Amino acid sequence: MLTTPTNRAAPAAVLKDRFREAFACADEPGVCRAPGRVNLIGEHTDYNGLPVLPVTIHQDIRVAFAPTRDDGRVQMRNLDPSFPDATFLNDSAIPPSPAGHWENYTKAAVTGLNRHFGVREFVGMDLLVGGTIPMSAGLSSSSALVVACALAYLRCLDKRLDHDISRIELAAVLAEAEHYVGTRGGGMDQAIILLGDERAACRIDFFPLRVEHVPLPQDHAIVVSNSLVKAEKTGETLHLYNAGPRLCQLICAMAAHQLCREYGESVELTRLGDLWFGNLCLTHAEVAELFDRTFPAASVTLKEAAGALGLSPTQVRDRWLGDLREPDGGFPLRARARHQLTEHQRVDAARDALLAEDAGSLGTLMNDSHESCACDYQISCPELDMLVKIAREAGAAGARLTGAGFGGCTVNLVPRDILDAFGREVHRCYYRDYLGNRPSPHPQGPMFVVQASPAAGYL
Ligand code: GLA
Repeated sequence: MLTTPTNRAAPAAVLKDRFREAFACADEPGVCRAPGRVNLIGEHTDYNGLPVLPVTIHQDIRVAFAPTRDDGRVQMRNLDPSFPDATFLNDSAIPPSPAGHWENYTKAAVTGLNRHFGVREFVGMDLLVGGTIPMSAGLSSSSALVVACALAYLRCLDKRLDHDISRIELAAVLAEAEHYVGTRGGGMDQAIILLGDERAACRIDFFPLRVEHVPLPQDHAIVVSNSLVKAEKTGETLHLYNAGPRLCQLICAMAAHQLCREYGESVELTRLGDLWFGNLCLTHAEVAELFDRTFPAASVTLKEAAGALGLSPTQVRDRWLGDLREPDGGFPLRARARHQLTEHQRVDAARDALLAEDAGSLGTLMNDSHESCACDYQISCPELDMLVKIAREAGAAGARLTGAGFGGCTVNLVPRDILDAFGREVHRCYYRDYLGNRPSPHPQGPMFVVQASPAAGYL
């Protein structure tokens, strides 16, 4: 049966006992939690300041914590023995561990809060971490770890959430802080984790961060299916992810340059979202026309981009592209820009569809979003495309990849009255026939019905 899995997270009392054993201490630790999230629509738009529409899930990361000695050492243990014990020194500069080491997420949180509060006395802490969010699945287990560690560290600094720092501020601080691990992500994950709601999805806008709660569908369930292709944000996938923000920054520079040429005065664009939300306040149609004029051809070579901007190719690389490989024929900037425009329009329409309880329209928007992610943004893979196709044939009103892409999960809008048949069909066609019964790393299977959860907080 396709159901919401029961919450297998360690209850606070168990985590506290395990903490006392792990750190041989008699004191009562604090406990906090941060949920994962699934994004309904609005993919790879957040770093451009364009809206997203995610919802929290009930799987979470829990951390038992206590401030420690004055030697400034942070000691970390995990209930899952596959995470090695880790220790680092809290200081004004904390060097990152090699990519992929889990303590980097804690270091990111600590570094971000040290900077925000101008911390001079670097307290140490002991942390015991447990979690039920599937990892490398596009469900934001990493940001949940960052947020949970930040909540723990706030207490160790003797600061109070909602008093010394608001949730909105903390979400913005941690979005920036997570760049420490090497991803150039936007602020969706930290925002939904800190500001989500168990009764609603959230439309989130950025710069400044704003959250609007939008009702969840009633007669349709949101089902997450894991493609079982790992989407680890290290190595090659990190590079692939970061190509998105990099190309968008170049698109932004070229669009600003185009406007300058047309209006004869300089136009400041920090990010693509400024076309709609900055001083310009362009409509979707005006942005579409601007992109047509800026990118008359499908691709732009490095040389052409440099020529258009009046810079040298080296300057274009240094400012925007870094070590991004130039594809034969150039960078597909027109399609990337089109995804940003159409995905923005779809988020607006999806919010309206949810408010109107119009699951049919929402499903169509989700399907269109997948096509745009796959063709224009190129963040899908054969397994995700197959899983989406099978889900639609099995009766989903809408199905799309969710999160960073390149593997991970799909999100599906499924009429509640066909949930079981849907689950059986996807199991048969994808997990059994297509993947050949590859074992799932998740004890409760690779599919689940989403149950939204309260935002991150203390237990
Ligand atoms: C990751 C990032 C987010 C967002 C999504 C794609 O989850 O952390 O900021 O860019 O990918 O929508």
